[in-house]
Order: sequence, then C-alpha cells, then structure tokens
Amino acid sequence: MAKNIQAIRGMNDLLPSQSPAWQYVEGVLRQVASAYSYEEIRMPVLESTDLFKRSIGEVTDIVEKEMYTFDDRNGDSLTLRPEGTASCVRAGNEHGLLYNQTPRLWYMGPMFRHERPQKGRYRQFHQFGIEAFGMPGPDIDAEIILLSARLWKAFGIEDQVELQLNSLASNEARANYRDALREFLRAHEAELDEDSQRRLDSNVLRVLDSKSPQTQAILANAPRLSDYWDDESRDHFEGLCTRLDAAGIRYTLNERLVRGLDYYNRTVFEWVTTELGAQGTVCAGGRYDGLVEQLGGKPTPGVGFAMGIERLVLLLEAQGKIPSSRSTDLYVMAGNAEAELIVLRVAEQLRDGQIGLKVQVHSGSQALKKKLNKADKSGAEYGLVVFMDGGIETYQLKHLRDRDQADQEFTQIDAVIRAL
Ligand code: HAM
Repeated sequence: MAKNIQAIRGMNDLLPSQSPAWQYVEGVLRQVASAYSYEEIRMPVLESTDLFKRSIGEVTDIVEKEMYTFDDRNGDSLTLRPEGTASCVRAGNEHGLLYNQTPRLWYMGPMFRHERPQKGRYRQFHQFGIEAFGMPGPDIDAEIILLSARLWKAFGIEDQVELQLNSLASNEARANYRDALREFLRAHEAELDEDSQRRLDSNVLRVLDSKSPQTQAILANAPRLSDYWDDESRDHFEGLCTRLDAAGIRYTLNERLVRGLDYYNRTVFEWVTTELGAQGTVCAGGRYDGLVEQLGGKPTPGVGFAMGIERLVLLLEAQGKIPSSRSTDLYVMAGNAEAELIVLRVAEQLRDGQIGLKVQVHSGSQALKKKLNKADKSGAEYGLVVFMDGGIETYQLKHLRDRDQADQEFTQIDAVIRAL
C-alpha cells in the first residue's frame, strides 16, 4: 500500500466540524470592521523577501529564523508572508492608496512562520488585521483599540482579555534609551541569559521581553523608557490614554512592552489573556509612522493591529462562546421508487420557497428505514419523505428532534414550506 502523505507540521486542516466556529468568528470580524467603515484589502501570500527584511527588521526573530524563504524558478528570493502590515504598505504604495489619503483597511488570511508548534502557535496561522494610514493623531490609535474592544464584547469575552499599552516614543528618543539600557546591561552582562547577551548588541530593547527571572530581576533597576520620551510622543500617549478613559476602556501600562517587529514607534499595545497558557497574546499592534517611507512611499503615518484567529477561536471554545449551528435543517428523501426521480426538483422548490434553508437530499435508493437513519444522523430538524403515486405527489414531514410530535401529511409543497 502506498505511504500516506501527511500535512506539514504546524499547518492544520480546518475540518468540517470546526468550520462553523471559524465562519462565525470571521462573520463577526467582518461586521465589526465595516461598522467602523473599514474596507477590505487582499494581498498575495508570497512577496519579495526584501519586503520583510526591510520592514520587520533584519535582526528580529521573524526574519532571522522564522521565514519560509525560497528561490523561485527565476532565481528570485520569495517569502511566504509572516505578517500582513508590510504587504499592506507595499500594496498601498504600489496602487497609490496612501499618499494624501486616509484609507482604513482590514484583511484576513493565512500567515507563515517557522516557529516551534504548540497550542496557539502554528506555522500556518491566520490573522485578522487592521491598518489605518495618513492620520498622525492619537484619535485613530484610540479608534482601532475601540474597534478591538468592540470585538471582545461582540464575542462575549471582554472579561477574559486585558489591554497592555506602552509608547516607544520617537526614533531619536528610542535610540537614546537604547544606549542607556545597553550601558546599564553591559555592567551585568555575565548574569544575563544567553539570548539577552546576544541581543545586547543586535536588538537591546528585546532584552526587556526576556522570560528569564534573573534577567528580569536585573531589569528592575534599569533605566526606564518613559524617562526618555520626547514631548510630542508624551502628548500623543496622553492623548490616547485620555480618549480611552473617556470611552471607558481599561488598560495597564506596561513599560516592558516593546514588540518583536522593528517598524513601531509611539503607541504599541497587546490584548492578552491568561486562558491560553504561554500563547496568551490574542491581538497586537501599534503605530508605524516611518514604514511607508521606508518602503519607498511618501512619508505617511500608519497604525494597526493583527489578531490571531486560531487563538481567538481557542479562547471562544474554552469559554463556550461559539454559538451552536447545524449544517442541515431539512433532510429530503424519496419514500417510493417513483419519487426517486423528483426529490431533487422538490428540494429546489424548498430552497426557492425559503431562502437560507439548509436542505440535504438523500443520495441513493436504500430502504426508507436506512434513509431515515441517515436523516437522523444529519442533525436536521426535519425529515421530508416525498411520495409519488400515479403522478400525484404527497409529502410527509417528520420532526426528527421531537419524536413526540406527530408526522404531518401534505399534498402541496407550499404548505410544507409554511409548516417549517
Ligand atoms: P504579531 O505580534 O507578530 O504582529 O502578530 C499578531 C498576532 O498574530 C499575535 O498576537 C498572535 O495572536 C498571532 N500570531 C503570531 N504568530 C502566531 C503563530 N505562530 N501562531 C498563531 N498565532 C500567531 C503582527 O503580525 C503585526 N503585523 C501586527 C500589526 C498590524 N501591527 C500593526 N499593524
């Protein structure tokens, strides 16, 4: 027997039993995005490798060790997108969507990172992302946070997520802070964990993210980023906090929140939950005012976030917040041989008569008892047995979920539709 071919590790099939949850989640995401007048953009999953190197940053985990990069048949280096922001900016620049305009965009789709798979962390995962361009003020930062908060409410998980907020200030302020932090950590170099020692030169801000308790203990006395904030960034951050306060959004200030992608400045935020173990960040984002220019466009500010749909679905499942749904409302079958030829036409009439009705037609000509068994297994609310006798059609409606209810007999299809 031929050997079975398996899916790539960390890349999951979404099975029919799981798709109702995903359809529900995607539906709510679309609805809420459009309630804020955001428009959808779809970008390709493959881009030039340079796009991600130049945006996410050469010395980030994503670019250093997580990208799926290969040369195509022309010898061009291509990469499966590890995130959507860079592609969105590339598309915006390429199609003239950004300059002197204020597009508010959303996207949804698969992203690829070669990480170690575990619960909530996959090699192909899906993001819902928001990006807003051309608006420099804190009002738009607040708007996208309100949009995300509305999503939690719509899903009924507002008590399971917490908003963490920080400002990375201007590039100059951050550079000064980087120097100060490096100088401080240098004095403790030998006590730092290995990753942090390596990052001392390459990406010292990421040391703040270290999971090592010993490194964290050292950081307790380190210089603070907020002491290096420039005045404009401080005003911006206060403007954001005031608007969130006015809208009743709770948040925690987290000075250690620096994010793993290089393009951010000023506002950064994450929505975290304690319900998913180690992979607790369900949504993350911030401002990236230099990115459009860095990728060849005219200077244009931007701000956005992305949420991991797998993590969101896991959280909703854990909280029992996925509404139940059924794939079949009505199971239609022939009751005698003559009716076999007309059941498909009857099902069409039923679909015409009640838009949205989920009708499944039995395939094959087994004994009626077998058909009824299948009808029951389908989970349908009703079964409809169609009879044809000397050219006369009759219908028997069965209440599959409530066997106490008597079958109903009809001679007109319209009457069946009214009875559903
Ligand atoms: P990120 O923090 O790299 O940011 O990813 C955003 C979210 O995607 C994470 O919080 C998490 O929920 C989900 N995610 C990331 N990696 C994985 C994985 N391996 N498996 C499952 N879920 C994952 C960005 O991607 C930025 N582009 C966000 C952004 C948009 N900033 C501004 N605009």
